Amino acid sequence: MQFRLQAMPDDGPVRLPDPLGFGRVFTRRTLEQRYETSGGWGEAVIGPAGRIALDAAANIFHSGQGIFEGTKAYLRPDGRVQLFRPDANAARFNASAVRLAMPTLDPTDFVDAIDTIVSLERDWVPPGEGASLYIRPFLIGTEATLEVRASRAFLFSILLSPAGPYFASGFQPVGIRVEEHHVRAAPGGTGAAKTIGNYAASLFATEAARVDGYQQVLWLDAVERRFVEEAGSMNIAFVYGGSEIVTPALSGSILPGITRDSVLRMAPDLGHPVREALLDASEVLRDIASGRISEVFCMGTAAVVVPVGRIGRHGKDTVVGAGEAGPVTRKLYAALTDIQYGRTADPYGWTRIVDPEAALSRCYA
Ligand SMILES: Cc1ncc(COP(=O)(O)O)c(C=O)c1O
Repeated sequence: MQFRLQAMPDDGPVRLPDPLGFGRVFTRRTLEQRYETSGGWGEAVIGPAGRIALDAAANIFHSGQGIFEGTKAYLRPDGRVQLFRPDANAARFNASAVRLAMPTLDPTDFVDAIDTIVSLERDWVPPGEGASLYIRPFLIGTEATLEVRASRAFLFSILLSPAGPYFASGFQPVGIRVEEHHVRAAPGGTGAAKTIGNYAASLFATEAARVDGYQQVLWLDAVERRFVEEAGSMNIAFVYGGSEIVTPALSGSILPGITRDSVLRMAPDLGHPVREALLDASEVLRDIASGRISEVFCMGTAAVVVPVGRIGRHGKDTVVGAGEAGPVTRKLYAALTDIQYGRTADPYGWTRIVDPEAALSRCYA
């Protein structure tokens, strides 16, 4: 696939924000590609980042056809930049698109689009432990109509944002609270898709948990309000007997995380058996209290692996182990980030080093 490069104003050398933070500062270029039901995908254009002009009646504002992805580019010790499993993001993006009645992209074009814009913006990939360039591809319905039906026009775009370490002050355990009243997603709904509405639906409970001092909500299944699904916008896992890693099986209302999948594939090679199961929240809390579960951790692109120090339910906290990051959590974090940052060999074929020359050969003026 070819990308049209627009001229850029000369804004001088890149100055990364300090501190880096997350998701508030964006690189100077963006990618945009439009789709019309009548003509398919148009030209992919990489040009100055800025505002998107949309009709006030655009589908995204009223019917909410919107999906996105989140992935990262990492600076390797040799100075090159690499992506982590962008093909998995392409597959999930297309699965989300199908669920939301939106057009799909050729997976190779999706990955080439990321590779090309990251290559052009590689000076924005920040150095340092835990720092990365966050990549946000998204697709929205743009047709101007208040009719409730699938849009006939769409915009695909990619934003890039330099991101600091999730844990500014070390590997800190988080507190999560079991959500009894609200659900994130229901069977037959859109929980397995990365669509904007899922996030809107999660905000009320998340804000309430934050007010009470918890960082995330532990979502239960929508039917019985009994089984553990996810923690905030991360997947969750429990360490039984100091070694076995058990995570909720994908139920259709859980987002199939790429970090979750990576952990499930790596853990056996690190000596930890893995199991996907239906996990009753009450049993889980009992097992934490009795010590059968020694560690709990969340998994997601933003933070990679996050230790959980306590779980609140019915006004009472159950502390996990000593309330600190445990050895299995630390080991997984180190093993996964070593691959992501290119500090170690990648036996799984997950990483793709971006090649600025090849990227330029995909561009025309
Ligand atoms: C609801 C939800 N669950 C889980 C995840 C973790 O997925 P991944 O590991 O692909 O980032 C995310 C983040 O994308 C999410 O938004």
